[in-house]
Amino acid sequence: MTKFLGLLLSLIAIIHIIQAQGQQGFTSLDCGLPANETSPYEESYTKLMFTSDETFIRSGRNGRIRENPEGFAKPYETLRYFPDGIRNCYGLKVEKGRTHMIVARFVYGNYDGFDVKPKFDLYLGPNLWATIDFQRLGTNSTNEEILHMPTSDSLQICLVKTGETTPFISALEIRALGNDSYITKSGSLMRLSRSYFSKSGSNIRYMKDIYDREWVAHNGASFQKEWTQISTALDVNNSNKYVPPKDVLIHAATPTDANAPLTIELPSGGSGEEYYFYAHFAEIQDLQAKDTREFNISLNGEVLSDPIIPKKLDITTVSSVGTCQGMECILQLTRTNRSTLSPLINALEIFTVIRFPQSETDENDVAAIKNIEAKYGLSRIAWQGDPCVPRQFLWGGLNCSNTDMSISPRITSLNLSSSGLTGNIAAAVQNLPQLEKLDLSNNNLTGGVPEFLGNMKSLMFINLSRNNLNGSIPQALQKQGLELLVDGNPMLCLSNACRKRPKKKVLVPIVASIASAAVVIAVLVIFLVWRKKKATAVGGTSMVNDTFANKKSRRFTYSEVVKMTNNFQRVIGKGGSGMVYQGTVNGSEVAIKLLSQTSTQGYEQFKAEVDLLLRVHHTNLVSLVGYCYEGDHLALIYEFLPNGDLKQHLSGKGGRSIINWSVRLRTALETALGLEYLHVGCTPPMVHRDVKTANILLDENFKAKLADFGISRSFGGRESQEFTEVAGTHGYIDPEYYRTNRLAEKSDVYSYGVVLLEMITNKPVISEEYHVAEWVGTKLNQCDITEIMDPKLCGDYDSNSAWRALELAVSCTDTSSSKRPIMSQVINELKECIACENSRISNNGGLLESQEINISLDSTVVPRAR
Ligand SMILES: *[C@@H]1O[C@H](CO)[C@@H](O)[C@H](O)[C@H]1NC(C)=O
Ligand SMILES: *[C@@H]1O[C@H](CO)[C@@H](O)[C@H](O)[C@H]1NC(C)=O
Ligand SMILES: *[C@@H]1O[C@H](CO)[C@@H](O)[C@H](O)[C@H]1NC(C)=O
Ligand SMILES: *[C@@H]1O[C@H](CO)[C@@H](O)[C@H](O)[C@H]1NC(C)=O
Ligand SMILES: *[C@@H]1O[C@H](CO)[C@@H](O)[C@H](O)[C@H]1NC(C)=O
Ligand SMILES: *[C@@H]1O[C@H](CO)[C@@H](O)[C@H](O)[C@H]1NC(C)=O
Ligand SMILES: *[C@@H]1O[C@H](CO)[C@@H](O)[C@H](O)[C@H]1NC(C)=O
Ligand SMILES: *[C@@H]1O[C@H](CO)[C@@H](O)[C@H](O)[C@H]1NC(C)=O
Ligand SMILES: *[C@@H]1O[C@H](CO)[C@@H](O)[C@H](O)[C@H]1NC(C)=O
Ligand SMILES: *[C@@H]1O[C@H](CO)[C@@H](O)[C@H](O)[C@H]1NC(C)=O
Ligand SMILES: *[C@@H]1O[C@H](CO)[C@@H](O)[C@H](O)[C@H]1NC(C)=O
Repeated sequence: MTKFLGLLLSLIAIIHIIQAQGQQGFTSLDCGLPANETSPYEESYTKLMFTSDETFIRSGRNGRIRENPEGFAKPYETLRYFPDGIRNCYGLKVEKGRTHMIVARFVYGNYDGFDVKPKFDLYLGPNLWATIDFQRLGTNSTNEEILHMPTSDSLQICLVKTGETTPFISALEIRALGNDSYITKSGSLMRLSRSYFSKSGSNIRYMKDIYDREWVAHNGASFQKEWTQISTALDVNNSNKYVPPKDVLIHAATPTDANAPLTIELPSGGSGEEYYFYAHFAEIQDLQAKDTREFNISLNGEVLSDPIIPKKLDITTVSSVGTCQGMECILQLTRTNRSTLSPLINALEIFTVIRFPQSETDENDVAAIKNIEAKYGLSRIAWQGDPCVPRQFLWGGLNCSNTDMSISPRITSLNLSSSGLTGNIAAAVQNLPQLEKLDLSNNNLTGGVPEFLGNMKSLMFINLSRNNLNGSIPQALQKQGLELLVDGNPMLCLSNACRKRPKKKVLVPIVASIASAAVVIAVLVIFLVWRKKKATAVGGTSMVNDTFANKKSRRFTYSEVVKMTNNFQRVIGKGGSGMVYQGTVNGSEVAIKLLSQTSTQGYEQFKAEVDLLLRVHHTNLVSLVGYCYEGDHLALIYEFLPNGDLKQHLSGKGGRSIINWSVRLRTALETALGLEYLHVGCTPPMVHRDVKTANILLDENFKAKLADFGISRSFGGRESQEFTEVAGTHGYIDPEYYRTNRLAEKSDVYSYGVVLLEMITNKPVISEEYHVAEWVGTKLNQCDITEIMDPKLCGDYDSNSAWRALELAVSCTDTSSSKRPIMSQVINELKECIACENSRISNNGGLLESQEINISLDSTVVPRAR
């Protein structure tokens, strides 16, 4: 049965692959598809394979339309919106030198609940493509299409905020078109209309159209009363380079009055515009021997081409350019004198020309700067789209040469000073040949000063001050016309003695060297002391590594575990990794987590947790009494915390009391202290990775302790690290970490922010409609804290402290990790909140809690080992 199912599944997979192959050169992005939904998936009507846009953009949030009376298909029900940053861009792969149809679709559907029609700009690379203005349109949806030949293999599509409203996008569809089709003398084609002539037809797309163009039927009222429809049941040959669908070609319109011309009024694209037409003809009537059909095409009376004689059941495409002066623009098909039949038309495409005059930044410079960005793990929201142009969106820290729009801008200056850079100086810097200024000062860069800097011809200024560079200055950098600043690098050798080839004259103005030997010596002494300290710390760590195997005193046998739990009598919890029992060791109560299976995953997590907990001690981290590791039996023995977890105390489940605001603030503070200790207090620093209300336990005095370190990881201090698998709990996972796989302590800050939001609002973290952060986001503007606060608090809180806590939670859940505070800032802010709440309580005549809070503040101001 399972085998059969497997076969069936692989068959389905094969079918999908075959169908997806038919869509070669297609990119179909369902923007804002939630992470828990399948991607790619097949859209049921068109059979197009849609993919989540997640990996094509790194900003924005997911939304979903609230109303769908018009029945938009699945890809258009979700959307991505961009509350942060001015310009947000998709980066897509295309084929250079080939015409692509690019369609951007927008369905507003009151996704934000504000019912305010948005207005924003759409850019193609550095150039304005269109302004999306729902107010002017008066519709619920719109789309923009261009036929465009990219000048490089990558394509940036950007949404730009131009006013108060938030840009969004529902879908992006890109199709590589046939060779040599839709070629313009200059510029790209912006679609005005693409229609065919069937009174009763409906819109036609893929798979009937192999390029997924959308053909709109001139049906109902849009089929003029001056026209008569003709159709055929026979097959029409549609093979030319445009390949319009056969279903389009089997219908045509002719003038009802046989002597009148067929008149089509063009949609306006503004007067004086250049129009491109692609008219498709096929003779679909059975002609008598005496009959001929021949006609001219004219635009506002000016004949556009030679007379046309449609071929029997075979396509003829006429393409032509014309300009319309004045307001009206009328296309006419007029029969010639020798024609016995009136003209006919099967399908018509109309475009205006749109020019993209601004050249993109040099491809190699773009590749180099992206490489540098990736190496240093920079994630700046403004670093999207073209780095240099348009000028108003120039990436922060860059400057470029761009005087002439038709010439690709080049990067001339790179300033990453004070950006928390670690590691060595990026080799990709040498791929910016026109760089004149380089400022990497005030970071934590290590390693040597690379020689290539001396070989970059344009480079005139380098500031490497205040880093941790070592070695000596390469010969190549000691040249006239190059200003090199290297002060504040204690390990960098500046004296002549350590240069490989001694130099007679120092040509480089090395600013620091003048700062005299005294400073160098002082720094050296500090360094030696520091190194010694570090060596002891390393010794300590290696001892720690031994503990898992050796620390016998904490290790229990399985029979001891059986005894301490009285043969697993009392279950107090059930987690993903196993059951939790209550027991006693030497008269004190303990909680024992029995790991259900010895899968590698289970063992790894077990070992990680034991290693961590035997090593770290903090009053706000749950402590490990011991462990059992005997054959298949793995158990963790913790101190017993009788008051359950924070989640229960918010929901009231498990017979737990709802905790009041001051206890919530104190719990938040204590949790923050535990987290801060993990982030900065222990060596190596750790990220918890699974901060959530269910993992915050409360002891008999309601003191909070963070638990469950099974997926915690050490990380390289400020440096973020990449892990192959993203772990954590849905709803609490940092979206940036989720996207980039880069883990740093700010991911915990995000999860912590979600916990705070839960404590403030008591809303589910994820509901059908919202993430709690989004819900708060929509409520924030209303200036009424009572709408946001947990109703179970019955208004019993200081609103000032509530606001501060809320603002803190919002900043912790910022989508951009760089904007989130670090835990010590969180702690300071929480103390202020508690002070506000305390003063309210004492003003109210000093309730019981006030004393409690004051005590807690005193005893836990500094994270401290127990
Ligand atoms: C837009 O949607 C609303 C309901 O969401 C509907 O009442 C209205 O008719 C729609 N407008 C158009 C132009 O379809
Ligand atoms: C399009 O042209 C390229 C070369 O210019 C060629 O390799 C490719 O096969 C052509 N594709 C089609 C569909 O004709
Ligand atoms: C359709 O037209 C093409 C080009 O004119 C021709 O090569 C092909 O044989 C035709 N196909 C049929 C079925 O007539
Ligand atoms: C059709 O166009 C040709 C030239 O292309 C012209 O000689 C002829 O007069 C035109 N006929 C009509 C009816 O406009
Ligand atoms: C077609 O006929 C009209 C009048 O019937 C005449 O004015 C015109 O010159 C003719 N054109 C040609 C190309 O014969
Ligand atoms: C950037 O370069 C331009 C010349 O391309 C110059 O006018 C401008 O002052 C420079 N800006 C900065 C901040 O250096
Ligand atoms: C680099 O930027 C910092 C501010 O971020 C500024 O103080 C410094 O002067 C800049 N360096 C150069 C070389 O312009
Ligand atoms: C070089 O960088 C250091 C540290 O950021 C700064 O103090 C100094 O002013 C910079 N020097 C110049 C000339 O920009
Ligand atoms: C360098 O890193 C240390 C700790 O890793 C940190 O204390 C210091 O502030 C960092 N320096 C800079 C300039 O970022
Ligand atoms: C410079 O520091 C790196 C580590 O950051 C080390 O590998 C290298 O050996 C050091 N070089 C010198 C010359 O001390
Ligand atoms: C994804 O999550 C949302 C919210 O939790 C839920 O409503 C939806 O059913 C989930 N979808 C799938 C396919 O699991």
